[in-house]
Amino acid sequence: KKILFVASEGVPFIKTGGLADVVGSLPKCIDKEYYDVRVILPKYVCMSQEMKDRLNYRTHFYMDFHWQNQYVGILEAEMDGVKYYFIDNEYYFNGFKPYGDNALFEIEKFAFFSKAALSILPVIDFRPDLIHCHDWQTGLIPVYLHERFQGSDFYRGIKTAMTIHNLKFQGKWSIKEVQDITGLPMSFFTPDKLEAYKDANLLKGGLVYADAITTVSDTYAEEIKTPFYGEGLDGLMRARSGDLRGIVNGIDYDEYNPETDKFITHHFNAVNFRKEKIKNKRALQADFGLDQDDKAMLIGVVSRLTDQKGFDLVAYVMDELCQDNVQLMVLGTGEEQYENMFRHFAWKYPGKVSAQIYYSEAVSHRVYASCDAFLMPSLFEPCGLSQLIALRYGTVPIVRETGGLKDTVQAYNEFESTGTGFSFMNYNAHEMLGTVRYAERIYYDKKREWNKIIDRGMAIDYSWQVSAKKYQEMYDWLIG
Ligand code: ADP
Ligand code: GLC
Repeated sequence: KKILFVASEGVPFIKTGGLADVVGSLPKCIDKEYYDVRVILPKYVCMSQEMKDRLNYRTHFYMDFHWQNQYVGILEAEMDGVKYYFIDNEYYFNGFKPYGDNALFEIEKFAFFSKAALSILPVIDFRPDLIHCHDWQTGLIPVYLHERFQGSDFYRGIKTAMTIHNLKFQGKWSIKEVQDITGLPMSFFTPDKLEAYKDANLLKGGLVYADAITTVSDTYAEEIKTPFYGEGLDGLMRARSGDLRGIVNGIDYDEYNPETDKFITHHFNAVNFRKEKIKNKRALQADFGLDQDDKAMLIGVVSRLTDQKGFDLVAYVMDELCQDNVQLMVLGTGEEQYENMFRHFAWKYPGKVSAQIYYSEAVSHRVYASCDAFLMPSLFEPCGLSQLIALRYGTVPIVRETGGLKDTVQAYNEFESTGTGFSFMNYNAHEMLGTVRYAERIYYDKKREWNKIIDRGMAIDYSWQVSAKKYQEMYDWLIG
């Protein structure tokens, strides 16, 4: 069976968040004996030179798009038994980041990408049985397939699945302009198709026309049927609930492995973490301006700094938290208000708070490997990979019970001695603070209990093993 992934980012080529981790790790875990899996990504000019050097030019052609004849270059690469194709067009993919701030241009860029992804298939001589689309950037694929490609023998009968990694981003703009860009007939811009609240909505198009819909945890699959989490599409989610399922993400167990991680100096595992992990903590404290203090509970954050991630709660109680004997190590970029908030607290509490406001694969691995606890108080969280990585590195997650955080972190219960982390329910700053302080009590006063929490966390398998099978079942069911 032939499966094609189409997405806007994928490790190791280009990454801004968890989507790239999924697109980079799931395809290689699909059983190669039964499935031929290939991936299409944009060839961004901002990709690292090292990655660009891995791509080989295959061919190019011109495609009618918008009012122009656009260049479509095809490059290819192979890794771990998965073939990757990159669509090259320097007008669309030349930004210094994968995504830009001009919403209309983003729509045009990914409309181009979606159409090009379909157009290259006969050229690369690959007719997939199923196209697995990810997020709004690929929402037009099921739509185009339905509208203009289905007429040809080559495309007829190709199935589609749409995975929602984040319902908040939908690719919305006024109908007139989107109609003009996409070239879709006006009849597609009605409330039962691409229109939502008077605008054209690319994700909605994908969700209406895809044969199946998945999202990245069971809880999020339920949550998005409600107005609070549904981002205006909860009605559609309810209407399609028969075709909607949650499949929780895994992480790449080779990349995130505390025994072999190339970014950390002191490797450890579930047996020797008590002795070894602390050495990473000391090095992190030394390198990032934190007091040299073995005992202080070191709390890590590695995150996009956006309102999704719950940093409003942190801002609210940060002064109170900093009265405790804790340290906070933050690595992240994103909205200016959160970047400045953490910079401010790092200035106010030197030695206690370190704010590293940039993106770094290397530093992120060190944070996961060095901290005692990992904070993720998200407002919403489709799945979340950071808490899974933290678990694997023996770093105890403190999370809000939402989406994938709820499904993957089991709350500590001191009476039954169960649980892999700490969690709170309401989006309330003092509830979060209370939970962090509860964790502090266990950490300081009951170290054996704390270490057992780590033992249990490190013992859980969050590799792709189980979830890859669920995707395969879905592929089989759709393809027949
Ligand atoms: P999201 O996709 O919503 O950003 P996830 O938890 O699913 O959240 O995935 C985030 C991924 O991005 C993780 O692999 C995390 O380590 C990584 N990440 C986020 N911010 C940074 C950063 N500043 N530097 C390095 N890695 C980061
Ligand atoms: C999105 C979500 C995150 C999820 C990731 C990968 O970025 O915000 O929760 O883990 O996609 O599915």
